[in-house]
Amino acid sequence: MLVSPSILNCDYTHLEEVVRFVENSHADMIHLDVMDGVFVPNLSFGPPVIAALRPLTDLTFDVHLMMQHPDRLIQAFADAGADIINFHVESAANIPETIAAIKALGKKAALTVKPNTPAEAVFPYLDELALVLVMTVEPGFGGQAFMADMLPKVTAIKAECARRGLDVAVQVDGGVAADTAPLCADAGVDIVVAGSALFKAARPAELVEQFHSL
Ligand code: DX5
Ligand code: ZN
Repeated sequence: MLVSPSILNCDYTHLEEVVRFVENSHADMIHLDVMDGVFVPNLSFGPPVIAALRPLTDLTFDVHLMMQHPDRLIQAFADAGADIINFHVESAANIPETIAAIKALGKKAALTVKPNTPAEAVFPYLDELALVLVMTVEPGFGGQAFMADMLPKVTAIKAECARRGLDVAVQVDGGVAADTAPLCADAGVDIVVAGSALFKAARPAELVEQFHSL
């Protein structure tokens, strides 16, 4: 599995060191959690912070938009340097138009499902997506417990992609750690997001290597 570290719970006074930490862990990308205080009960950062990080690294920016009107800011996130622009199927956006806008800007489009949303909600859009994210916690906060009962959604999305001959990566986000990552691998997950487990690890590169080997 590939690894996308979430910096949501990082030390915001030293963002450049946070980027170096992610690079030194040999992770594959960096997961940037954007929250608007409306779609989720928390507020994080937006395009200016992402733009400030962009010159610091060549890592792929995996931008997870937990916001009510992602369609209004697609251009801003593209300009800020996002590579993957991922929005929620439950948000107020016109989904086909928003996916088209992301792709027209040369970015990879992704859709996310919250725990109470079935896997089938993304099926109509799979042909246009690079990635589907299955939340394994209620979005809003890092450090929550992994919901293993979300993994059948991963299996269902992988099976539907195989049936239709589509190459769509499936990612999970929330509560991924040394004990829960093997369950993700067994379900067919391609990319794990890891926040607190990685930032608290005594040897982050070893944890990433462990995830890579699964
Ligand atoms: C939750 C965010 C996650 C989260 C992951 O709303 O989307 O990316 O920060 O953090 P951990 O790995 O600590 O659950
Ligand atoms: Zn996230």
